[in-house]
Amino acid sequence: MEYVYFEGKIVPEDQAKISVKTNSLHYGTAIFEGIRAYYDKETDKMWGLFFREHYERLFQNMKVLNMEIEETIDQLVEITKELIKVNKIKSDIYIRPLVYFSDLKISPKLIGYTAKITIYTYPLGDYIDINDGIKAVVSSWTRLNDNMIPPRLKVAGAYVNSAFSKTEAILNGADEAIVLNKNGFVSEGSAENIFIVRNGKLITPPLSDDILEGITRRAIITIAEDLGYPVEERHISRTELYVADEVFFCGTGAQVSPVVEIDHRKVGDGKPGKITKSIQEVYFQAVRGRVEKYKDWVIPIE
Ligand SMILES: Cc1ncc(COP(=O)(O)O)c(C=O)c1O
Repeated sequence: MEYVYFEGKIVPEDQAKISVKTNSLHYGTAIFEGIRAYYDKETDKMWGLFFREHYERLFQNMKVLNMEIEETIDQLVEITKELIKVNKIKSDIYIRPLVYFSDLKISPKLIGYTAKITIYTYPLGDYIDINDGIKAVVSSWTRLNDNMIPPRLKVAGAYVNSAFSKTEAILNGADEAIVLNKNGFVSEGSAENIFIVRNGKLITPPLSDDILEGITRRAIITIAEDLGYPVEERHISRTELYVADEVFFCGTGAQVSPVVEIDHRKVGDGKPGKITKSIQEVYFQAVRGRVEKYKDWVIPIE
C-alpha cells in the first residue's frame, strides 16, 4: 500500500481522488515540483535533496498564480520526510508535490478559487542516461516566454510545450530536445537546464533566456566554480552547440546527463566529456550527503 499526502492528511493512495470537474485539471493552472531523495547504501540512510529550495520555488510560483495553501514550507518539508518514512522507502525516489485549484467550477482565472496541495513519491533511477551520453536534437517548437506562460514557473500547462519537443525528439530517434527561445537562442531541454563547455569554461543561458530557474543548475554552477572552472551565463546560439567541446543537461530528474550528439553531429569526440564527468562525480557524492561542504544541500531522513 502506498501513502500520499492529500487534503491535509497522509492517506492510502486509493483515497486520494479528485473530481473530473476540478478547475486546474481543465486549464493547466497547477504548479508542481520535482524533488529527489537518494538512498545511500553505505549509511543505510535516505537523503532528501534541496527539499527547502524546492518548496521555496513552489511558493514563489504559487505567488505568481495567486495561490495560497494552508501548509507552510517548514510543514511541507516535514510532511515529505514523513511520507518517505510511512512508505518505508529505501531507494532513489522522485517526489511530486502538486498545487491545484480544487474548485469544481468553470472559468480560467486566478482569483476566487481555493488551492490545495497533494504530494506523492515514486521510485526513480535515471530519468535519462547519465553514463554513455544521450542524443539531442534542436526542436522545431519554440520555448514559451514570460508574457505567454512564464518558463520560470513549473506550471502544468507549460509542459504541453515540453511534451511537444520531447515527443518530436523521440520520434526523430533522439533522447531529448534542445529548445530555442523566441529570439533563436538556446533555452533548455524539455525538462532540464543545459550547459556547454568551451576551452575549459562552462556556459549556460541566463535566467532571462526563458528557462526554469533550475535548482540543479545553481548547484552545478557552485560545483564547477569550486572545481576551478569559470562559469559564464550568456546567450548560446544553435551552432555554438555544434562546436562545443562538451554539452550536458542537468535537473532534478536528469541529474547530470552528458550529451554526445546534437543534430547528428558529434559533441567533441562523441563521448561524455572530462569536465562533465568531474562535475557528475561530485554531484552524485553530494546528493548522498558525502561531501562535507555541500552537506546543507541534503537532509537525512532518520
Ligand atoms: C523545463 C525544466 N527546466 C529545468 C529543469 C531542472 O530544474 P531543477 O534542477 O530545479 O529540477 C526542469 C525540471 O524540473 C524543468 O522541468
